[in-house]
Amino acid sequence: MSKIQHKYSLKKYNTFGIDVRAHSFVSISKEENLKLILAENKLPLFIISGGSNMLLTKDVEALVIHMNTKGIHAIDKDKNEVLVTAKAGENWHDFVQYCIQNNWGGLENLSLIPGCVGSAPIQNIGAYGVELKDCFVSCKAIHRNTLEEIHFDLNSCHFGYRDSIFKNDIKDQYIITEVTFRLTTKNHQLKTSYGAIENELADQKITSPDLADIANAVIAIRKSKLPDPTIIGNSGSFFKNPIVSKSLYETLIKKSPTLPHYPISDEAVKIPAGWLIDKAGLKGFSKGNAAVHDKQALVLVNKTGNATGKEILALAKFIQTKVETKYNIHLEMEVNVF
Ligand code: EPU
Repeated sequence: MSKIQHKYSLKKYNTFGIDVRAHSFVSISKEENLKLILAENKLPLFIISGGSNMLLTKDVEALVIHMNTKGIHAIDKDKNEVLVTAKAGENWHDFVQYCIQNNWGGLENLSLIPGCVGSAPIQNIGAYGVELKDCFVSCKAIHRNTLEEIHFDLNSCHFGYRDSIFKNDIKDQYIITEVTFRLTTKNHQLKTSYGAIENELADQKITSPDLADIANAVIAIRKSKLPDPTIIGNSGSFFKNPIVSKSLYETLIKKSPTLPHYPISDEAVKIPAGWLIDKAGLKGFSKGNAAVHDKQALVLVNKTGNATGKEILALAKFIQTKVETKYNIHLEMEVNVF
């Protein structure tokens, strides 16, 4: 049985490296223990796996369950595809690397995203033209109160841009215990159209890339602009890229002809939040122990390692106000604030 600890520091369990305490804490490495813990627990619950998409602003008055279950299991579906199931506690990047070593294609563009397999569907992680949903088959989850086990298939997850049913209709009701992906074993559909990947491959003089080449290009791009959370605390993109009306976009592009943008529909356009923050003059800006990363303005960092969650939140609110004043656009936080 897993040991429950009290007044436990969560500094090592969130990638911002914020030092708050959990009322109680337990690390689960066997799925059967999860049910035993849930059956006996009377406290509110707080689930953590990679801790890579959260900002902790105060002590967590709950039983914190750290999902640390491991295991990867593959079933050949046919000559071209494999179904791969990974347990929630598998480190995401290690899992992607394992897939590449086995020549299973689909997740290579999602290399080096911090976090674990179990939390990846919650915000439908995405990067460089690929989202988790593109390879997702199903996930298994346990209901926190009834302990009922359910499989959610692709349709029932309601995936959207950094969004899913787990953030909306059934928020905080289930714990994801494993995720199954459909990956290719041959004729891989490589996604190289994202500009930065093409440039990186060209720089490396690679003309017919394989899975590992794509992964290595993504790793090189990410390393060049995103801070390594094991060195400087951060949570990746802090805000979502806002989707604005066509008319607001047309006003903006008149003033700033180089504005990067991605059409979403006839009426809506997505604008990079990093560009807005950068052009508001805040790239590299710091306030106390918190700062805007100097190579990618969408990322907030725990600059000294001693930032409190409140300091980072204050910086985030300052950014929201500045961008709203300058561009009349509200930046929605991507990171979950507790
Ligand atoms: N830009 C600036 N200044 C900045 C940052 C960005 O001008 O400081 C401009 C860039 O020049 C580019 C545009 O904004 O023209 C977009 O920047 P980038 O390609 O770096 O991507 P992003 O939109 O800022 C999104 C994801 C990232 C993902 C990348 C690559 C969101 C919220 N973020 O960032 O995801 O890695 O695209 O696909 O959608 C994450 O979610 O944690 C994350 C890192």
